[in-house]
Amino acid sequence: MFENLKALPPDAILRLIAEHQNDPREHKVDLGVGVYRNEQGRTPVLDSVKRAERRLLEEQETKAYLGSGGNPRFNDSMQLLMFGDAGTANDRIVTLQTPGGSGSLRVAAGLILRAKPGASVWTSEPTWANHVPLLGGAGVNLEVYPYYDEGSRSIRYGDMLDALNKIPAGDIVLLHGCCHNPTGMDPDPGQWREIAEVIASRRLLPFIDFAYQGFSAGLQEDALPVRLLLDRVPEMIVSSSCSKNFGLYRERVGSLSLVSETASTAAVVRSQAYNIVRTMYSMPPDHGAAIVAAILNDAKLRNEWLEELEAMRIRLKGMRELLATALREKAPGHDFSHIERGRGMFSFLGISAEQVSRLKSEFGVYMVDSSRINVAGITKNNIDYLGESIAKVL
Ligand code: LMR
Repeated sequence: MFENLKALPPDAILRLIAEHQNDPREHKVDLGVGVYRNEQGRTPVLDSVKRAERRLLEEQETKAYLGSGGNPRFNDSMQLLMFGDAGTANDRIVTLQTPGGSGSLRVAAGLILRAKPGASVWTSEPTWANHVPLLGGAGVNLEVYPYYDEGSRSIRYGDMLDALNKIPAGDIVLLHGCCHNPTGMDPDPGQWREIAEVIASRRLLPFIDFAYQGFSAGLQEDALPVRLLLDRVPEMIVSSSCSKNFGLYRERVGSLSLVSETASTAAVVRSQAYNIVRTMYSMPPDHGAAIVAAILNDAKLRNEWLEELEAMRIRLKGMRELLATALREKAPGHDFSHIERGRGMFSFLGISAEQVSRLKSEFGVYMVDSSRINVAGITKNNIDYLGESIAKVL
């Protein structure tokens, strides 16, 4: 049987992890996969996470099954984190713990296929490289709306609104809650208000991929699109990830929130979502979610986490400024000011695939072929080398 299979190329983002690891050059720079790094270039376990883990080790009394929805305390806390006060005991919203943001997207795809198999999910052009294989692979029909202009290195806001105005009512629009991956360019609050109005008036179903809450302007500020839309639409899907803001990448912690028009529909939606989970992976792993629940429900741990989150946010912004400044000096005549305008981890450098390939082969500088960089890979130690390397391939 297996001889019928054909080998597939490795994933475009994940292959960079091994390529960079196997590169013996001392000066190599990893701007590939979206993992936060500190000034020393490391991704340490957060102190708040370590403390919560120690507490769990001492206090957890059982590891018996929790069920397909996962950890209820985690689910309630995540709902509150995303939806604010409106998320408390709101019987229109069902939140399930999922294996990471990707698991959440996959369960959502299953639900879309059951509820409205003919509906299309409209993704931004461009979008996260795994959105299309993940949702498309699940069997969902995909379409695109314009989002980013490579010339002006900004959002094609007018074109995006025009497109939203033409999408058939009942179709699903996938939005990045904040820190758009790969462009780093988000609508401003006024634009989000307008987008929410168009989505509501056109009766589209918003599907928000919310993988970077806290990495743009702040935990509450970043939730603006989720909260605006909750007030305006009868139905919504929100996929969230704790990989980045809690640094729990390999623990696979995420959530899926499903907003229905009424409590009775929400109960049906819950039963369907649980059934999808049961028939796919039965139930999510607990450890990471238990850590998040412990942090969010303890004032001291929560404050410690908020400080760590703020430090990550400030460093990302600082590294954007550092790179834009370095390139102003080392590559005069080229405009990289968009890097400073971006939010979160990612930005397009705006160079060709050939230049990306030269950066890798000649200088050991790794990024996605699209020239997406993870700004967390920049440090004060590597900025000179990085800026000079980029200048040399321009
Ligand atoms: C990324 O875009 O690099 C991250 O979200 C990690 C991943 O799984 O692709």
